[in-house]
Amino acid sequence: MFRLTFLALCVTALMMSACGGEMETPEPEPMSWPEVAGYALMEIPPDNAMTAAKVALGKQLYYDRRLSGDGERSCYGCHLKENGLTDGRPTALGAFDKQLTRAAPTMWNVGYYESLYWDGRSGALEKQVKGAWGGGNMGASGNDGAPSMDDVCAKLNEIPGYAEQFQTVFGGPATPDHVAYAVAAFMRTIVTTTENSRFVAFRNGAEDALNEQEKRGWTIFSEKAKCTNCHDGLLLSDMQFHNVGIGMDAENPDIGRAKISEDEKDTGAFKTPSLYDIAKSAPYFHDGSVATLEEAVELMTSGGKENEYLDVDNLADAKNADLSDDEKADLVAFLKALDVEYTIAEPMLP
Ligand code: HEC
Ligand code: HEC
Repeated sequence: MFRLTFLALCVTALMMSACGGEMETPEPEPMSWPEVAGYALMEIPPDNAMTAAKVALGKQLYYDRRLSGDGERSCYGCHLKENGLTDGRPTALGAFDKQLTRAAPTMWNVGYYESLYWDGRSGALEKQVKGAWGGGNMGASGNDGAPSMDDVCAKLNEIPGYAEQFQTVFGGPATPDHVAYAVAAFMRTIVTTTENSRFVAFRNGAEDALNEQEKRGWTIFSEKAKCTNCHDGLLLSDMQFHNVGIGMDAENPDIGRAKISEDEKDTGAFKTPSLYDIAKSAPYFHDGSVATLEEAVELMTSGGKENEYLDVDNLADAKNADLSDDEKADLVAFLKALDVEYTIAEPMLP
């Protein structure tokens, strides 16, 4: 956290000195931003330092439907707290009611990911925001009569509360880049901590944060079935791409990572999803094809679904563990203990 705080201080200091120290007293910066305790520091791009004013602006934009092409969807609208920061649908319904092909993943800890989306096609969050905003999700594409991102920015600049904040944070009006930077900064604060996650607390030494059954489930998850071969570490993801067989029996399977890497062996491989809030985020998998957590666990403990590209090596422990019904119940209890207490409140919009 030291580095984040240091960056924030530098930015504040720069802003002060550029204005000869005569500007109004800035909002006090938080001493530190939330973090996954025990995990490596989040990398903050040097050109998008975290500041309280920027995060507050990004949060409003993230919750604001006026950002979308049809005026009906906000980013938050598909990443809802009651659904574990997903949308509760098998596959998402984008702006202008366009049916999308994949399920909305959770937003927990996205600031730590080196690559975003199920297939990892986007790197930095700053780029991803524009992808979601100008693409099918939010529909500000500028095509077929839909407004473009620039058109939406022109509208935002007519709202005094936004115009002022963009001026303060970026020294200029709303532009697609400024919006993307602010929203990315906000998303970096959506983090599981020792306060909101019993699992993070447990992994940082709070032995009694999990009950006996949940602890048995953790032992199965980490030692016996070795789900941690892929759902690794405090993010519960190795950030790699694996084929566990989902959707491979479709007529035209979604080839996932292979489309990006152009490597045939990545066919049907998807990014290992974080399992935070998993009990709330049904239905499961990239295509939303599995309705309940129990069925999802059944599928994973049986070693995935047979197909030519299955990651047999990493799934062998899960299959060979040959778990009893009681052990599966313990595993499900552990997964339910990954629920996160959501403390981010909806902001007031200007
Ligand atoms: C219509 C529903 C919908 C809306 C609106 C939406 N998203 Fe998403 N989001 C999704 C889906 C579906 C995916 C997965 C797409 C894929 O992997 O191909 C996703 C993926 C993401 C990811 C990647 C997460 C990961 O684990 O890699 C981020 C970050 C994200 N969205 C942020 C946003 C932001 C920011 C906005 C607003 C600009 C937004 N979303 C609006 C449905 C939505
Ligand atoms: C080979 C790596 C690997 C192993 C081992 C593994 N998983 Fe997964 N898991 C994945 C991937 C990749 C996905 C997403 C697959 C998809 O949607 O196509 C996934 C998805 C899931 C999901 C659904 C998540 C969601 O957001 O929809 C659950 C639940 C799950 N795994 C639990 C487990 C459990 C429990 C174990 C151990 C018994 C386990 N996994 C072992 C890689 C793995």
